[in-house]
Amino acid sequence: MRYAIISDIHGNLQAAEAVLGLIERLDIGQIVCLGDIVGYGGDPSGCVDLIRRFCPRVIIGNHDAGAVGLTSVDYFNPAAREAVLWTDTVLSDEERNYLRNLPYEMDFEDFQIVHSTPDDPAQWKYLLVEEEAGPLFDFFNGRLLFFGHTHVPVVFRRDAEGTVHATGADDFILEKQVRYIVNVGSVGQPRDGDPRATFAVYESESEKVTFYREPYDIAAAQKRILQNDLPQMLAIRLAFGR
Ligand SMILES: [Fe+2]
Repeated sequence: MRYAIISDIHGNLQAAEAVLGLIERLDIGQIVCLGDIVGYGGDPSGCVDLIRRFCPRVIIGNHDAGAVGLTSVDYFNPAAREAVLWTDTVLSDEERNYLRNLPYEMDFEDFQIVHSTPDDPAQWKYLLVEEEAGPLFDFFNGRLLFFGHTHVPVVFRRDAEGTVHATGADDFILEKQVRYIVNVGSVGQPRDGDPRATFAVYESESEKVTFYREPYDIAAAQKRILQNDLPQMLAIRLAFGR
């Protein structure tokens, strides 16, 4: 079985369509979404609609939760808060209801998923460096956990001796005695300096994780942000992948 693992679409319909188009060309039937469908971008309803149609297995992100009043947005930076509060005003009741009922984590036969961290997914903590990753391996059972939230693709590996290394977002095959926490990056607002949309594919027979980058119409996504009077920096950053 091949799974496309996508995360952090953030209301960027152009990026979402580009990624789903590539996934279709790759003939991958199973699409899994790690949350943050909305927030930041100018097309929250379009992205909710797209994910509902093509992605039956979805978990909630902090921006989804913030947009429907499930989590405080006080700690969001001002631009993020402005965008999420605007998102709240444009979603339909039905879309809000859909987001509100998404789970915080999900188990698959070969892997597990969470938006932020597996110790307490509703706390929305950020996992960026290997020192933070070590203790988190005690909070899931399998060999492989996928997460999003930071928008930076990275692989944390814990070997049989318990040593944890961050190894960058390079394709890899699971090794015996090694466990992995993998960030698949962001579809709609990459922050690792590469503006192309990011996602990963897991192939369960070969136990291989492959990272993809896909170009999309950044100018059109920027236009949608500006047309909706959202903060200009949310449009500018898309061009830089920061
Ligand atoms: Fe996000």
